Amino acid sequence: MSEQSNNAPSGAVVERLEHLRSQLNYHGHRYYVLDDPEIPDAEYDRLFQALITLESEHPELITSDSPTQRVGAAPIDAFASVKHEVPMLSLDNVFDEEGLRAFDTRIKDRLKTEAPIAYACEPKYDGIAVSLFYQDGVLQRGATRGDGQTGEDITQNVRTIGSIPMRLNGEGYPRAMEVRGEIYLPHKGFHALNETAQKNGDKIFANPRNAAAGSLRQKDPSVTASRPLAMCAYSVGWHEEGELPDTHLEILAKLADWGFLVSAYRRSAEGIDDCVTYYRYLGAERDSLPFDIDGIVFKVNDLALQEQLGFVSRAPRWAIAYKFPAQEALTQLNDVKFQVGRTGAITPVAKVAPVVVGGVTVSNVTLHNSDEIERLGLHLGDTVVVRRAGDVIPQVVSVVKSKRVKGAQAVSFPTTCPVCDSPIAKKEGEVAFRCSGGIVCGAQRKEAIKHFASRNAMDIEGLGDKIVEQLVDEGLIQSIADIYTLDRAALIQLERMGEKSVDNLLAAIDASKHTTLGRFLFALGVREVGQTTARNLAQHFGALEALRQADEETLQGVTDIGPVAAGFIVEFFAQQQNNQIVDALLEAGIEWEVIAPKSQDELPLAGRTYVLTGTLETMTRDEGKERLQALGAKVSGSVSAKTHCVVAGPGAGSKLSKAESLGVEVIDETAFVTLLAELEA
Ligand code: IVH
Repeated sequence: MSEQSNNAPSGAVVERLEHLRSQLNYHGHRYYVLDDPEIPDAEYDRLFQALITLESEHPELITSDSPTQRVGAAPIDAFASVKHEVPMLSLDNVFDEEGLRAFDTRIKDRLKTEAPIAYACEPKYDGIAVSLFYQDGVLQRGATRGDGQTGEDITQNVRTIGSIPMRLNGEGYPRAMEVRGEIYLPHKGFHALNETAQKNGDKIFANPRNAAAGSLRQKDPSVTASRPLAMCAYSVGWHEEGELPDTHLEILAKLADWGFLVSAYRRSAEGIDDCVTYYRYLGAERDSLPFDIDGIVFKVNDLALQEQLGFVSRAPRWAIAYKFPAQEALTQLNDVKFQVGRTGAITPVAKVAPVVVGGVTVSNVTLHNSDEIERLGLHLGDTVVVRRAGDVIPQVVSVVKSKRVKGAQAVSFPTTCPVCDSPIAKKEGEVAFRCSGGIVCGAQRKEAIKHFASRNAMDIEGLGDKIVEQLVDEGLIQSIADIYTLDRAALIQLERMGEKSVDNLLAAIDASKHTTLGRFLFALGVREVGQTTARNLAQHFGALEALRQADEETLQGVTDIGPVAAGFIVEFFAQQQNNQIVDALLEAGIEWEVIAPKSQDELPLAGRTYVLTGTLETMTRDEGKERLQALGAKVSGSVSAKTHCVVAGPGAGSKLSKAESLGVEVIDETAFVTLLAELEA
């Protein structure tokens, strides 16, 4: 401690403390609320450290609303209960447009008007309702909703949430007020939390809402502090000594001025048709939002009208929640099947009673791997929660253990391959068990052949999954090389194969012999060699022989190839049976144009990122993508400031508008075709 710190604090110290606190409040608000930081994180940390140091030298000057006091309270044994000044109500729900229109009609009837009603529209955040009490602009207490009358005191936990102001900004706020809102966990934080939990063998949360609830219920605030929760303020529940504006949207604007995070998606709507439009608009955005919402809340905007409308039992007459299709549903686990993939990986798949979830009927749900079965502790006949959110494949998130019937049989992972009975094993560092049967395993053979024939590989039209299954089951082919020895006599025996189909298939097999080295390499199905890697290898080596001879070190010199892929490639070409198959394929007449080896950065579009959107008329999007990649471009699925050019065909939507707003170059198909022709020449 410096000598000065033992003296009474000087005015300069108080001033410096105040300055640091207001700087930290300002930058914290920009970071947590506006999502628009002005300074690097390290600079924020530096200010924070400076405040900690100064406060430790002058502990008597620490105030409860200092940014340093967000974390640091001691764990508690139990939450105290808090009686809400005004009960925290819930909302009535509707599930379709008809219900929404009926709500509007009821309001107009009550208000005896036919004029369109002005509504405020907001997302319905899927989190936990909280009430925050402020006195003279300083956060005093945070409480959960509880039963609506009485909640739990979670003050120490809410203080750790960056988007909740400890001290309000600006002025004009009532002397005492209770701000209400929803605490939620954005997707990014949710995934990070579960990833860490998985690594540490801790409990995995089924969804962001449960994770937010679990985080708020922590007795130790330092645990809550480690969870990146956020709060969106949606109303002032109660206030004293001070005026508030007389419309809901103006109140939200005030809350934003005072430092709260208020939904950036809030809108005003004139009449119910506008509300329907908003519902559709946000419904379309739902999957791309960085947090979960489960519907839209519509509120009569004018507070005087709200008062006139009043409440029925536990919900206001002036507001309604129009819910989106549920992303979670209960169903029954009928069976678990174990599928064997091309590389022998064994994937358990839950067969569930068909159930509508996220607007789609689901009956097969992947269980990923043996760890997942263990995590869930599945038993046959279990009632399970299935979740399908956005484009994400359906998941079994949890089991309702209380509904398990007595004597139910636990699901266990097989100890040998369910198809060929070979031993199965898990390599260190991998999560998947794999069948060790290789080419002996019928399942692996089938998958390898399906992959070889698929559109992005050898593109043999007519050699679909069903036919491959039949060919293997009938013993007509054993490996990918046998495809080229198939004859009419063999094919005509197959069920549902007419003369015409046989001719077409034979012609397609023949046509597939003229290919590219990249496609051929991809078709071989070497582990970790996807389309891009295969193309990079082809460009780098130019010829198959050079690649066959390459060692791991050389391979790692190829763009995007790391030690793992290099290892698999060497391993593949070290096996005699693989080389025999490759030789047989070459002998069957598979050929490609030999290209001079090129390094990736010599290509004309090296370093440029393209996005394809809308429909293309002269080619498929896949073809466009492949041709761009062959020219060295990166093709991305989403537009960002890093995108160089967007190729937009008819029907282009949000990607096109995003490109326009970011000032990214946009070209149409004609310009695109011209560009390809010029560069490919
Ligand atoms: S207003 C009296 N607005 O939904 C009106 N609620 O089902 C009180 N919620 O308990 C609620 N987002 O936790 C309102 N923009 C929003 C909301 C919202 C989420 C939650 C809230 C409430 C529940 C009602």
